[in-house]
Amino acid sequence: MRAFVAPPSGTPRSRIPMNSYNIAVIGGDGTGPEVVREAIKVLDAAARKFSIRLDYTHFDFGGDRYLRTQEVLPDSAVAELRQFPAILLGAIGHPGVKPGILEKGILLRLRFELEQYINLRPVKLYDQRFCPLKDKGPEHIDYVVVRENTGGLYTGIGGISMKGTPDEVAIQSMVYNRKQVERCLRYAFEYTKKRNKKNTLALCGKTNVLTHVFDLWERAFHEVGEKDYKNIKREYYHVDATCMWMVKNPEWFDVIVTENMFGDIITDLGAITQGGMGIAAGGNINPEGVSMFEPIGGSAPKYTGKNVINPLASIAAGAMMLDHLGETKASLAIENAIMDVTANKIKDMGAGRMGYSTTEVGDLVAERV
Ligand code: IPM
Ligand code: MN
Repeated sequence: MRAFVAPPSGTPRSRIPMNSYNIAVIGGDGTGPEVVREAIKVLDAAARKFSIRLDYTHFDFGGDRYLRTQEVLPDSAVAELRQFPAILLGAIGHPGVKPGILEKGILLRLRFELEQYINLRPVKLYDQRFCPLKDKGPEHIDYVVVRENTGGLYTGIGGISMKGTPDEVAIQSMVYNRKQVERCLRYAFEYTKKRNKKNTLALCGKTNVLTHVFDLWERAFHEVGEKDYKNIKREYYHVDATCMWMVKNPEWFDVIVTENMFGDIITDLGAITQGGMGIAAGGNINPEGVSMFEPIGGSAPKYTGKNVINPLASIAAGAMMLDHLGETKASLAIENAIMDVTANKIKDMGAGRMGYSTTEVGDLVAERV
């Protein structure tokens, strides 16, 4: 969705039209609003340099609003958010609210109802100093996880019976249909093709135990690949082995595609190999609709308001958002600025150990865009 703003009278024709986007912003809980503020600072610097117009509409969804109003997400929210070209999210999760309420009621509900069926999570190391793996540098850690984002265990299908008795039963089902699996795989194949690096797509599964769900995934993987992506090499890894190779030989990977929960777990492992939650960003993508970009770490409540949290992941999420909107140059400029600050300024990715405050890191990146 691209709107063009009317040029002020007297503007030379060559300087118009300017791409203009009104971004929906959900700061959310804990340090979410602080890191989003820095992302916006950097986005604005990029917008000035690349003649893009960015406006922001803020939404107060999160734990504080819930505690005040007893409403997790107003019913109008999804329809309203659908009107925006993209959403920038800080973090969801509040220490005063039982785990699950906000996560399911806000984050997962938005992913599901906006049909953001891909969670795109690049694992890219910018500087060797931040990698906990022995003898691995940026040349070894540069791959992307395509996490299915609407199905599996996250559908919440299941239940509890005879609660509180010795016979209590709890069920949580891993649910997939062919359509969900196939659209995710197709996205992953397309992405691997566009990326054009090793042209290798790895399916991460558990065919030796999850003989129903991964039978579906594996068949669809080879069918789609054989039919439409002959030039993409197909590999398969069990999820446990994937974790091992992500540590031992991360340079093997180009693009990994996997189901929702496996993707959740392996991307935390991926994040720590790229320097930690302070730097890892992701995009909840609906290729035909509204996508939502977020740092993949949590709300880090204990650091709230202290100006110590690392905003780089949120800034990187902003860069992913610009790329998704088609503003490739502006996105690359932000990524390069992050790389520069990471290599030459930041002392440690951890909160309070960066050598700079949250706002200073935002300034450093914004200056270099
Ligand atoms: C993530 C988070 C979420 C998830 C939680 C907060 C529901 O861990 O985005 O990875 O499990 O998807
Ligand atoms: Mn997670």
